[in-house]
Amino acid sequence: ENLKDFIHELKGLNNIESLLEDKLGVEKVIVVPGDVEQDPMIKKELGKSAANYLKNIINDDSIIALTGGSTVLEVAKGMPQLYSKSNIVVVPARGGLGKEVEKQANTIASILAKKLGGTYKMLHVPDNLGKEAVKSLIKEPDIRDVVETLKRADILIFGIGRSDVMAERRNLPQDIRDFLMRENATSEALGYYFDKEGKVVYATPSIFLTLEDLKFVKNLIAVSGGKSKAEAIVSTCRSSNVQVLVTDEGAAFEILKIV
Ligand code: G3H
Repeated sequence: ENLKDFIHELKGLNNIESLLEDKLGVEKVIVVPGDVEQDPMIKKELGKSAANYLKNIINDDSIIALTGGSTVLEVAKGMPQLYSKSNIVVVPARGGLGKEVEKQANTIASILAKKLGGTYKMLHVPDNLGKEAVKSLIKEPDIRDVVETLKRADILIFGIGRSDVMAERRNLPQDIRDFLMRENATSEALGYYFDKEGKVVYATPSIFLTLEDLKFVKNLIAVSGGKSKAEAIVSTCRSSNVQVLVTDEGAAFEILKIV
């Protein structure tokens, strides 16, 4: 840990963090050295760093909501076993994401819950469902229970993706991809696609935690790194009241070029 602090200091990352806090209007920015796109170990460091922050804000009875993706997965994996808190519930903010079960919010929720000695809920709703199907699903008692818990979350930990990459990963129909291109969609987070200014250009029908709901979440924590994600990170930070951003040096320097 001391060595990590030393490297952080040496690289001047403290200054970068405060600069980013100012420029992005985010309360706290944490930057880990390196770039997740250059070295997979850095994603683990990013995860550990976010887990470390998370650990200190969890209370008894906390409800932690989270999204899927490889970065949030590393947060759950990087969380040490915690015994000091009781009655923690972990709940997925999104349903399934294509075929990658390992990186689905459901899977990550179960991993994190075990680390925290808490319980988890599951949300089994495919990403590509139509609006009508979602509307009728939400009437199901099991799903309604999860959604109600979700809306009471005091912590939300979420990933940020590039709009083009996520549209492909989610296998969105061509007409929607064309639409996203025309509207200059830049980032995706929580099922929303945002443009450079942070304006919503498209919302996936299977969204249960809405932008409106986010206003009531006490701790909004975004975890996302990699040089190529810089624009996406800025776009999502502009879209909502992100309080904490955990990122890497690769993204941080690139962000400073555009803000
Ligand atoms: O919504 C964005 C994705 O969850 C980001 O996924 O962390 O695997 O790049 P990733």
